[in-house]
Amino acid sequence: MIRTIGVIGGGQLGRMFALDAKRMGYDVIVLDPQEHSPCGQVADEQIVAAYEDLHAIEDLGRRTDIVTYEFENIAIGSVQHLETNGYRVMPASHVLRVTQNRLFEKRFARECGIPTADFDEINAPADLPRAAAAIGFPAILKTVRGGYDGKGQWRVDSLEAAHAAFAEAKGAQLIWERMIPFVREVSVIATRAADDSVVTYPVAENQHDRGILSMTIAPARVSDEISQRARDMASILGRRLDIVGTYCVEFFLTEGGALLMNEMAPRPHNSGHYTIDVTQCSQYEQHVRAICGLPLAQPHLYANAIMMNILGEGTGDHLGGVNDLLADPTIVMHMYGKHHAVARRKMGHFTMVVDGPIDAVALDKARAAHGLLRWV
Ligand SMILES: Nc1ncnc2c1ncn2[C@@H]1O[C@H](COP(=O)(O)OP(=O)(O)O)[C@@H](O)[C@H]1O
Ligand SMILES: [Mg+2]
Repeated sequence: MIRTIGVIGGGQLGRMFALDAKRMGYDVIVLDPQEHSPCGQVADEQIVAAYEDLHAIEDLGRRTDIVTYEFENIAIGSVQHLETNGYRVMPASHVLRVTQNRLFEKRFARECGIPTADFDEINAPADLPRAAAAIGFPAILKTVRGGYDGKGQWRVDSLEAAHAAFAEAKGAQLIWERMIPFVREVSVIATRAADDSVVTYPVAENQHDRGILSMTIAPARVSDEISQRARDMASILGRRLDIVGTYCVEFFLTEGGALLMNEMAPRPHNSGHYTIDVTQCSQYEQHVRAICGLPLAQPHLYANAIMMNILGEGTGDHLGGVNDLLADPTIVMHMYGKHHAVARRKMGHFTMVVDGPIDAVALDKARAAHGLLRWV
């Protein structure tokens, strides 16, 4: 029987997970190095320790009935340590092994018959001319491990620029990817349970600003056929990876209608925040259900949604304009309890609940709403 859930990572994803877990009656203990973390503020307790602190990790395992994580760049050794000591962790470490590594992830997708952008492995400067000849420019170089929110990426259109990127990466292993001139970026939030059942949410459409998600439109403005294909691919990937929990698969949609897998996240995802406000069972509740052995809920969309991230600007820590924003009853606000609005830091988001279709009027309304906010 599960009473207490442990979460490694105390960010906003852990916070929204903990809020749903608490609503469902579970106790939550979070482990994060930063005291009073976004998740720690709403959990029953926070263990303040580094993710690699095996002593603290074991303490988390001992005091909880199941452990999960909200961030895939935690040390895999910590998850393995829990597993070898008989503590249950979901998703299991084999999932992290693949999803922490952009090369493994793309090779895995291809083994599942799911296309990706062409890519090559870069370990030394001598690999750069080979990749340039085989794949060409424009290209995007990314660190194989540790990147998120566009960090550890270089867009290059010459061999000189590629060498400069390699030097800047300071010896980190890189992946060379073809730049895809996509018409849309979409993602699928899915949850798989231990009994192999999988549920998928309506496909979301994502707009990024310099590598960070800025807006999600749900459902995506794509055909039913494309939507079904994306959802099927996400199910296949989750089953083949033998993941238990909520996960996200990002795709590029090309002019010709191809869906290329970009990356997978073995956890709830920023592009699935909309599920809190316009479905009966959010991506977070679905994760609780999966790891606690409860039945998954077939998602039902009550309304359409536009989600906009609220990023810090480095101009102050007080969010102005909230009164104006909330004059609109279709807006639902979510703030993460972060005290310093450092430039480009994810501070919160809002969901605009849209009853009709998501057209230019709805998008303009959401952008105008976002424009009311400023950090002072
Ligand atoms: N091969 C690519 N072609 C075109 N755009 C890309 C490519 N790879 C990444 N991008 C852009 O950069 C964003 C961030 O890259 P991504 O691989 O998702 O890394 P992360 O989200 O982990 O920072 C993507 O959402 C997309 O907008
Ligand atoms: Mg991404």
